[in-house]
Amino acid sequence: MLTGKTIVLGVTGGIAVYKAADLASKLIQAGAKVRVIMTKNALEFVTPLTFEAITSNSVITDMFKTDAEHRINHIALSEIADIVVIAPATANVMAKIAMGMADDMLTTTVLATDSPVVIAPAMHTAMWENPVTRDNTAKLVKRGFHIVEPAIGRLASGGYGPGRFPDTEVIVGHIKMVLGQNSDLAGKRIVVTAGGTQEPIDPVRIISNRSSGKMGYALAEAARDRGAEVILITAPTALSKPVGIRIITVETAVQMKTEVENAVANSQALIMAAAVADYQVAEVASAKIKKESGELSLKLMHTPDILAEVKGNFLKIGFAAESQDLISNARIKVEKKRLDLIVANDITEEHSGFGSDTNKVVLIGQDGMPESLPVMSKREVADRILDRVCRLMNVQPKT
Ligand code: C5P
Repeated sequence: MLTGKTIVLGVTGGIAVYKAADLASKLIQAGAKVRVIMTKNALEFVTPLTFEAITSNSVITDMFKTDAEHRINHIALSEIADIVVIAPATANVMAKIAMGMADDMLTTTVLATDSPVVIAPAMHTAMWENPVTRDNTAKLVKRGFHIVEPAIGRLASGGYGPGRFPDTEVIVGHIKMVLGQNSDLAGKRIVVTAGGTQEPIDPVRIISNRSSGKMGYALAEAARDRGAEVILITAPTALSKPVGIRIITVETAVQMKTEVENAVANSQALIMAAAVADYQVAEVASAKIKKESGELSLKLMHTPDILAEVKGNFLKIGFAAESQDLISNARIKVEKKRLDLIVANDITEEHSGFGSDTNKVVLIGQDGMPESLPVMSKREVADRILDRVCRLMNVQPKT
């Protein structure tokens, strides 16, 4: 979604400047055009050459040096920017922006732009917590600036607290979210489930499956990037928590059912990408089961079928992981679980299914007509599913 977008990256003078180089690199890798403005103080930490090499573009450091080749005048970047990102942002630059000052290229660009502005502050905890900075931050939020909360951790000063420059992927997540604010799913609330549920046997052991959660997380992020309010109900996974999404972590199918039922009220769609265990242990042992000679039998009973049982005025999208008769089995599930759409994949195929970064799926709606998609990344699959969700909502997909 960053492909072709023009991102003006404002870099101000803090020790985290070197991390902005990684951010610029990730944005370029994601297909964005990045134009960097460095403040005078930022130049004390790194030279423009670093950003010029990463972005293949000249870096603007001086408002009064016009660059004929790139036609840079003092408001040129404010006009071409799809988004302005200030990372790292010092307390000083935030104060200037809150006051409406425009005494250098960065603050002038911010004052002149109609585009959204994302600010990622990084500073000593004492400066971040100073009432003046708190007031300035509140003023900026009120005026529609998007603030990425600084991370909590060790600071260059040796102290510990809020003020650290957030991880690159956190800032990229915020940029995507802000860029997608007015996209096709704006104003919709979508509930997504992900991961494999864990059914306890005793306090130590569980029954689970090989689901990585990647497909559900890709769906949640894609829906967020298209403007939706997303609630992600996830079984434990090794994935990092995406930003801008309400995340509810559960373990068992029963817990997932409760959370799904709570979340779907006032939602327009439920997408069940979770691999819900089909069976749970009938009687969970309260103490660790001792190893003894001979066999051990566990009595299993069905878990609730969340997707089949949950009811309400929202679209229901399910997944069907099959190893045979893909289409006919998926069609039966559409009927049985009263689904609007099913995403069927043959888990025996290469590049498909559990743990993989790619997937090869067939989408089947209530008309039973299969739409076979080629092998693509789980993120691309997520967007194709959301295109169908848009159409089911009578919204023209924008991708
Ligand atoms: O019946 P089957 O397990 O193949 O159905 C898969 C779909 O149903 C998935 O979308 C899965 O999330 C959902 N499911 C559920 N509750 C269960 C089992 C599966 O919601 N107990």
